[in-house]
Amino acid sequence: VTATTVTPDQELFQHAKGYYTARALLTLWRTGLLGRAAAGEELDVRRLGTEGYDGELLGGLLDYLTTRGYLEWVREGAYRLSQRGAAAAPYFGYLSTMLGAYEPVFANLERVVTGELVYGRDVSRSSAEMVTGLNALEASLLGQVTDLLARERFAKVLDLGCGSATMLCRICKLDDRIHGVGLDWSDDACELAVRTVAREQLRDRVTIVRGDAGDPGELPPAARDADLVTAMFVMHEVLRQRGREGAVACLRQLARTIGSHGRLLMVEVSATSGHEARDDLLFIPEYELLHVFSNQRLASRAEWEEMIAEAGMRVLQVAPADMCQAFCMVAGA
Ligand SMILES: C[S@@+](CC[C@H](N)C(=O)[O-])C[C@H]1O[C@@H](n2cnc3c(N)ncnc32)[C@H](O)[C@@H]1O
Repeated sequence: VTATTVTPDQELFQHAKGYYTARALLTLWRTGLLGRAAAGEELDVRRLGTEGYDGELLGGLLDYLTTRGYLEWVREGAYRLSQRGAAAAPYFGYLSTMLGAYEPVFANLERVVTGELVYGRDVSRSSAEMVTGLNALEASLLGQVTDLLARERFAKVLDLGCGSATMLCRICKLDDRIHGVGLDWSDDACELAVRTVAREQLRDRVTIVRGDAGDPGELPPAARDADLVTAMFVMHEVLRQRGREGAVACLRQLARTIGSHGRLLMVEVSATSGHEARDDLLFIPEYELLHVFSNQRLASRAEWEEMIAEAGMRVLQVAPADMCQAFCMVAGA
């Protein structure tokens, strides 16, 4: 067995390589070129010049990503996704949710860490980029959520922090008697959600409302008789916004909303503890770091179970979700 030693300078170069590769991929993703390549389009630098790209600079970017294995040459000036790039395509949404959306914070980290810039006042993540990224990732999560719901009977679903409302629409499509209400406090999310509902032709069954998920006592009338509440990647935001007591109060209110036969479906990312335990977990340390800097607080699965119990509900089913240490949990009275 030969042990490969990475020298300290090589290690730093590896970090730099990760940074440049991620930044180049993020640019192609944001411009839509990565999505087009994933859909099978050849990226022809000369032709793309007519769309406003500088041929030489775009060529440099595409050459770099060819070197890094995500693209391959078709001919001079034309590229397509490599096999490796195609295999990564279902996960490109992570470029937005884990890098792009938090760029406003991380590009200013020196000023944030001193308190000169305060999250929520001077800088915030881009909710538009967050919901677009999640939208691209949801295909891999949707199946698990709808599988968990297959055993449940419900007529009205309230989706807290609905984001793009892709999940909500998918749930409503399980049965055409199901009605849905999506609630989010971000204008960007609500606008995108309204567009999703129109595209999915669900305007007669799904309503989008702007409101605070942390205060379900103040739910709009349309949402009050929901017998299924879904909260996907939002309760950790409520946990930070309102603290543990506030989160439990919110869950207690949700328990009242769904009553003795209703269900709460939560999708969350589990926190971990201890540096050693975290070091080899794919992206978890980075995920936790970005939460520290954006007013969110992750809890472990056990902590969520405790809070759900304090709110007077029982956990009925738990399944791992196909996304970085995430889990789906179904609870009821
Ligand atoms: C990480 S995104 C998840 C979106 C969606 N549930 C999904 O899984 O794709 C969190 C969403 O919750 C919303 N949000 C966060 N705190 C909220 C609150 N207190 N009330 C309403 N929406 C909130 C954000 O605007 C964002 O759209």
